[in-house]
Amino acid sequence: MANQAPLAFVDLKAQYRLHKDAIDTAIDRVLEHGQFIMGPEVLELEAALAELAGVQHVISCGSGTDALLIALMAAGVGKGDAVFLPAFTFTATAEVVLTAGAVPVFVDVDPETFNMDSQDLEHRIEALPKNLKPCVVIAVDLFGLPADYEALNAVAARHDLMVLADAAQSVGATLFDRPVGSLAPVTATSFFPAKPLGCYGDGGALMTDDAGLAEIMRSIRAHGKGTGKYDIVRAGLNSRLDTVQAAVLLAKLSAFKDEVTARQRVAARYDERLRELVTIPARSNGAQSAWAQYTIQTDGRDALAAELKACGIPTAVYYPLPMHLQPAYQAFGDGAGTVPVSESLCGRVLSLPMHPYLDDATIDRICDSIESVLQGGDTSKSVA
Ligand SMILES: Cc1ncc(COP(=O)(O)O)c(C=O)c1O
Repeated sequence: MANQAPLAFVDLKAQYRLHKDAIDTAIDRVLEHGQFIMGPEVLELEAALAELAGVQHVISCGSGTDALLIALMAAGVGKGDAVFLPAFTFTATAEVVLTAGAVPVFVDVDPETFNMDSQDLEHRIEALPKNLKPCVVIAVDLFGLPADYEALNAVAARHDLMVLADAAQSVGATLFDRPVGSLAPVTATSFFPAKPLGCYGDGGALMTDDAGLAEIMRSIRAHGKGTGKYDIVRAGLNSRLDTVQAAVLLAKLSAFKDEVTARQRVAARYDERLRELVTIPARSNGAQSAWAQYTIQTDGRDALAAELKACGIPTAVYYPLPMHLQPAYQAFGDGAGTVPVSESLCGRVLSLPMHPYLDDATIDRICDSIESVLQGGDTSKSVA
C-alpha cells in the first residue's frame, strides 16, 4: 500500500483536464474584451444561477463570507442584535456576525444530519437575555445536505426572525425537489475552488426572490452606490465577482448537474462499502445532498486518519472544534458541555476524498484501507 500513488482529496486537476478547452476559451475571451470588473460574463452567470436555483435575483460577490456579510448588512443587523447559528460550522458563518457588530448565539445540531436542531434553536431564542433582540437565524447546509428548512422557517416565523441560508457547500442540492437557493428568503453561497461549484479564486453569490433586498445587496457589494457611480447611499464593500471567475464558473456550469450526479454515485458506493464499519452520513427526509463532503463518524478517528495518510489517502476533519469553544468566540458561549452534540461530533467526524472524478477502483482502495485499519489488519495488503 505504501507504494501506491497518493490520492487527491478534491481533484481539481482532473476536472480541468476534462473541461480545459471550454475553460481556456472562456478565460481568453475575457482577456480579449478586457472588461475585468462587471464584464458581460458576470450578468450571464447571475442569470444562469437564477435559473439553476429557481430564484428571481442572483447577486454575485467576492466570496461566500462576503455574501453572508452583505445579507446581514442588508437586513440592518448590528449592535444589540442576536444572530443564531450552528456551533458545528466553518468559522465564516460566525465571523460575519461579529463583523456586522451583532452577537452570535450558538445552536446545537442534529447528531445524524449535522444540521441545525430546530428544537434547540427555539430553546435558545426563548433563553435569550432581554438586552438582545433576536434577529436572524443562519441555517448551514453542512457538507452539502440542505438543513430542515420547513422546521427552521416555522420557528423563525414564530419569533419574527429572518432566515439566511449558508449554502456555501450545497449549491446543486435539493429539498423535496426544490433547489438550494429557493429554500430560504435569502441564500448565500461560495465559489471557493474546492466547493461543488468552484472558481479559480474567491467568489460567492446571494440568491433571493425579494426585489427590494436584492437591490440593497447589489448596492452593498459595490461600495453602497445608488443609481449613479458616485452616488453613495449607504456603507458598502468592494465585493464584486471578477469577470474571469464568472467566465470560469460559466464554463464549468454546463457539466455541473452531471458532476452532482457523479458525487451521488461516489456517495452511494462509499455507503455500500462502509455502512457496517462506521457511521455513514445520514440522508434527511426529501433532501438530495450536493455531497461537498462525505463525512463518516467513528471512534479512533485520529488513528484512522493517520493510518490512511500513511497509505496515501488524504482525509480532513471538518471541524475539530465547535465555534463556541474557539478562542475568539468563547465569550459568546457558556463553555464546554453546553452544545453537546457539536462537541461530540468534533471528536468523531472524518471527511473522505470526495469529487466527481473518483472511480470505483479508487473508492474501493480507500474503503479497503479503512476496513483493514478498523479490523486491525495489515494495510499493506489492501491493494485495489
Ligand atoms: C459553511 C461555510 N460558510 C461560509 C464559507 C465561506 O466561503 P468563502 O470561503 O467563499 O468565503 C464556507 C467556505 O469554506 C463554508 O464552508
